[in-house]
Amino acid sequence: MRLVLSPLDLCHAFLCIGLMLFGDGGVSSVLALGASIICSKMPGLAPRQRAFCQNRPDVMVAVGAGTRIGLEECQYQFRYHRWNCSSLSDRTIFGQELKVGSKEMAFTYALLSAGIAYAITNACGQGNLSDCGCDKEKQGFYDKDNGWRWGGCSADVRHGIMFSRDFVNAREVKRSARTLMNLHNNEVGRKTLEKSMKLECKCHGVSGSCTMKTCWMTLPNFREIGFTLKEKYKKAVMVEPYRARRQRQPAFLIVKGPHSYQKPTETDLVYTDYSPSFCEEDLVTGSLGTKGRMCNRTSTLEDGCALLCCDRGYNTFRYTRTWQCNCKFHWCCHVTCNTCSERTDAYVCN
Ligand SMILES: *[C@@H]1O[C@H](CO)[C@@H](O)[C@H](O)[C@H]1NC(C)=O
Ligand SMILES: *[C@@H]1O[C@H](CO)[C@@H](O)[C@H](O)[C@H]1NC(C)=O
Ligand SMILES: *[C@@H]1O[C@H](CO)[C@@H](O)[C@H](O)[C@H]1NC(C)=O
Repeated sequence: MRLVLSPLDLCHAFLCIGLMLFGDGGVSSVLALGASIICSKMPGLAPRQRAFCQNRPDVMVAVGAGTRIGLEECQYQFRYHRWNCSSLSDRTIFGQELKVGSKEMAFTYALLSAGIAYAITNACGQGNLSDCGCDKEKQGFYDKDNGWRWGGCSADVRHGIMFSRDFVNAREVKRSARTLMNLHNNEVGRKTLEKSMKLECKCHGVSGSCTMKTCWMTLPNFREIGFTLKEKYKKAVMVEPYRARRQRQPAFLIVKGPHSYQKPTETDLVYTDYSPSFCEEDLVTGSLGTKGRMCNRTSTLEDGCALLCCDRGYNTFRYTRTWQCNCKFHWCCHVTCNTCSERTDAYVCN
């Protein structure tokens, strides 16, 4: 197999774990060869993460996969927004993301730690990792209350979550408002995954009579996690650090408000800073601006030209869209189609 990587490819803009692996099989042997080199060159890994990387290169492959599904989901969920998650994968603003503890960052941290837990659980279930497999506690066990037996391979989501907690949290060492925020949101992501696990069952018995039933836990489609966290993003709660008297480091986060000493709930995403408008390019806040983005002229939502282009106006491009139409099936066996076309307009932000 070929391993095509550069340190910056490996380095996710703020988690620094986006392992890019291309190739076909034999991942672990090559990784074992190159692990200490790759891990020592990967910028931005916390010391404990670097040790992880060196000891368990096989797990790092899953971590890379988890980072990728998280990023892809982030880009999907925010495809119509001014901030569209692209800046995270853009190496030019590497490391800059850390400065603003915005709602967008809350969402991203939750999604990525869920993604990593997801990918680890998936890899365990496929027998790809040496220290995990199917959920042993469920295998073969008869569930009296529900009247079925645990069978098949139940996804060991607890293992995936434990690993994600260990690995992702390892970089939040110094105690600050920002690390408290990250730790909180990381956990929200993992809890969301745990709650989204699915039970699948199969009936056995004469002609589907279901006299015997076996069930197992499976991972949901990751898109579901994306939608759930997107809802949480919309309702995210602004918090501020609470400092006990004469303590320099904050003890915990409280909901921001005039008389509130309330801690945020475990299921809410939290943020400490207002988001920038994301209208103009600003590398410090990780904003790429919206110049050149396609917008929807008739929509009044985020993707509408007024909002997306920040009232700077837009250009109209007229083009001809063509597609295959009126397809007919001829016996046997071919299909003929006409080509249809239509003049269409596209709108692009100034
Ligand atoms: C498990 O390993 C196989 C073979 O190397 C690979 O094709 C597959 O994608 C891996 N699955 C996961 C979830 O890592
Ligand atoms: C996201 O926005 C940037 C900057 O405006 C743009 O270059 C990029 O193509 C967009 N990405 C997607 C997936 O729309
Ligand atoms: C534009 O927005 C309108 C209203 O929200 C929607 O019906 C339409 O499908 C959108 N057009 C495109 C090309 O996305």
